[in-house]
Formats: sequence, C-alpha cells, structure tokens
Amino acid sequence: MTTLTQLPEDYVQNPHALHEVLRSEGPVHEVRLPHGLKVWMVTRYDEARAALADPRLAKDAAELGRVVEAHSPHGRRVIDDALSEHMLNMDPPGHSRLRKLVTKAFTARRVEQLRPRVEEISAELIAKLDDGDVVDLLEVFAFPLPITVICELLGIPIDNREEFRDWTNRLLTFGTTEEVQAAGQAMAGFLLQHVGKVQAAEPDDTFFSALVHATESGDRLTTEELVSMAFLLLVAGHETTVNLIGNAVYQLLRNPDQLQLLKDKPELIPASTEEFLRIEGPINHATFRFTKEDVELGGVTVPAGELVLVSLASANRDRDRFPDPAELDVTRSAQGHLAFGHGIHFCLGAPLARLEFDVALTQLLARFPNLELAEEPETLVWRDSTLIHGLHTLPVRLA
Ligand code: HEM
Repeated sequence: MTTLTQLPEDYVQNPHALHEVLRSEGPVHEVRLPHGLKVWMVTRYDEARAALADPRLAKDAAELGRVVEAHSPHGRRVIDDALSEHMLNMDPPGHSRLRKLVTKAFTARRVEQLRPRVEEISAELIAKLDDGDVVDLLEVFAFPLPITVICELLGIPIDNREEFRDWTNRLLTFGTTEEVQAAGQAMAGFLLQHVGKVQAAEPDDTFFSALVHATESGDRLTTEELVSMAFLLLVAGHETTVNLIGNAVYQLLRNPDQLQLLKDKPELIPASTEEFLRIEGPINHATFRFTKEDVELGGVTVPAGELVLVSLASANRDRDRFPDPAELDVTRSAQGHLAFGHGIHFCLGAPLARLEFDVALTQLLARFPNLELAEEPETLVWRDSTLIHGLHTLPVRLA
C-alpha cells in the first residue's frame, strides 16, 4: 500500500531535496505533480534503470494521451498530431523502424566530423563577448550554439531560431491549452513547408536531405514522419544541450576548486561531461510511460493503465550507486548515469551533445577563466517543467 504524496508548488526550484526524501522512503512513489497530474515516480537508480528498459512500460502516443487524460484534472495537453509521430512516442516495431532510418547519421564517428564546424560556431559566439560584460550566458552562448548546429543539420535558416525557441518553450513548459495548440500548429506548419522544399529539391549530401531521401531495405520516411522527426531533433537537439552547458557552468561557479581543476587540466573536460550530466543533467524525468499491465517495481505494484515518471535526476543522485552524490567531482567515473536514458530510447544525440559540451566548455574556460556568477545563486529561478531541468537565466560576469 502506498500513500499519495502531493509535490509542493515550487518542487522544480529544488528537486534534489525532495528526491532525497523520496529515495530514502522507497524506490517508487505515487505522487501528484504540482500541476495536478497523478503519476508513479521512480526515484532509486536500480529501479529507474530497470523501468527504462521494461517493455511493459509503453509510450505509444495515442494510448498515452488517454492515460494522461484519465489522471489529470485538466484533461489532455494536445501537441499537434503532425508533430507526434516520432520515435520517442512509439513502441516497437514502429520505434525500431524509425530509429533505424536515422541512426546512421548519429554515430560517434559521423558526429566527430562536425567538430570543426561546432568549434567555429562556438568561437564566433565567444568573439562577440568582452571582459567585464555581465550577460545571461544561456542567451548569448549556451542557447545559440546547439540551435545553430541542429538548424544547420536540418537545413533550416537560422533566422527562424527565435521563433523556434518561443514555440518549443511553449510546448515544453506549462501554459494554457490554447498556447500549446497555437505553438504546435505554427511549428507543424513551418516544418511541413520545410520538408516539402527538401523533398522537391535534388538530393545532396547534407544530413536532412539524406534523411528525406534515405531508404532502408526499400523503406523510407513519409512526409508526416519527416515532420515529426525534424520536430523531435529540433527540440531534443537544443532544449537539452543548452541546459547541460548552463547547469555545468552553474555547478562550476559554485565549486571553485573543481573549476580550478578544469582550468589547470582542460584535458579532463571531455570525461567530466558525464559527471555534469549526472549531477545536474538537463532532463529531470524521462518522458512519460504507462503500464500496459500490472508491473512490480522494487516491491511496489503499479497497476495497469498508470503513468510512470522515471526520475533521471533522482536516480543519478542515488548514493547506493554514486557515493557522495551531491558532491561535484569532475574526476569521478560517472559512467552508468541515466541522464541520456537507457534501453531502446537511449538518447540518439548523445555523441552530438557530448561534442558540443566539450567544445563549449573548453572554449569558454580558455577565454574567460575568471568568469563568475553575477547574482546570488539563491535568486536564480529554474524553469517550470517536469521534463527540462534548466535555469531561466544564468547571469555571469565575464573575465
Ligand atoms: C545533453 C543533452 C541531451 C540529453 C541530456 C538528452 C537526453 C535524452 C533522454 C533522457 C532521452 C530518452 C528519453 C526517454 O526515454 O523518455 C533522449 C532521447 C532522444 N534524444 Fe536526447 N538528449 C540530449 C541531446 C540530444 C541531441 C543533441 C539530440 C539530437 C540532435 C537528441 C536526440 C534524441 C532523440 C532523437 C531521442 C529519442 C530516441 C528514441 O526514442 O529512440 N538528444 N535524450
């Protein structure tokens, strides 16, 4: 028998404290989220890892929508159907088919070829900044870097990036149903037009053209699937990396000894990526899953037809898996963290995210070794989302 825990309104402002309490009480909890949705939250590492790989926890969008509706006081949040037909919303065999068609483009080797261009974009952004400037690091650096990279990969003009930011922001954080629908329609309309243009053009060797014209054993993506795929890549490709960079800088500025270590030994930066992902990863909880049947997790039976939220942030601070979990230690081996998920939906973009982070932090610390927070850490506000763990702004003084 479990009791229903109501999460406080300001839960996202300090999720780690609450996760610690929940972890100490048990591996799986029936909770009501601040906005009213009732879910089963998995908070310990072993159960989280098992849940992510459990085929009885499904993602199929249509069914998931009905389950959300049944457990939310506000009904269903409808993201435009034209954007929903993507692999993160699917179970096998549909998932396997879509993933296969795109997977080749994202191998570590293919992604490594992007390094010179990522370095160039990062250097251009840094060149616009001066010593003594007080800036929102998210705005001037952490956001434009990944969105420029993903827009270039998709062949989307960079002039549209502010619009995308606005639309994705509305789609991922809590807003009115009208706002969510309007943003979804605008995004779907834009991407449909873009896909149409690429379909009509002669194939070339750019990433998105290759995807549009790709065939795998005679199979290819339909227009609807391309629109949803572009949407997934666009959202997953920048909403996450921006906050990995932001959260890592936030952690470093609060841990001067660790910052010094990375300044003295920048060669530690690539491996330290895993520790930043572990301690302050950009995804709070994996996307929703639902139970297709009764599922026992860590001694708790979650009945069929329930929503399950696997807390990546909590699992990554489970002391049974990572000693002194709240301590940033850039030299620790944080392998096995769940920040990129686990199982069949394991992040497709992990190699790209790691590359962007490595380039960004290396260049930032080399150019501004004495950067510091420009406001008290306690005044910083986290975004109101159960999915995204990132700050609204990260004010820093460059030096
Ligand atoms: C630090 C940056 C990133 C983090 C922490 C992250 C995290 C995640 C997580 C946790 C999942 C699985 C969600 C679940 O199982 O519910 C996921 C899936 C995915 N990510 Fe990422 N991601 C990042 C960057 C990227 C980038 C740069 C791209 C692409 C350009 C990308 C593309 C995807 C895609 C396509 C999926 C769905 C895979 C599937 O369903 O098989 N991600 N990501």
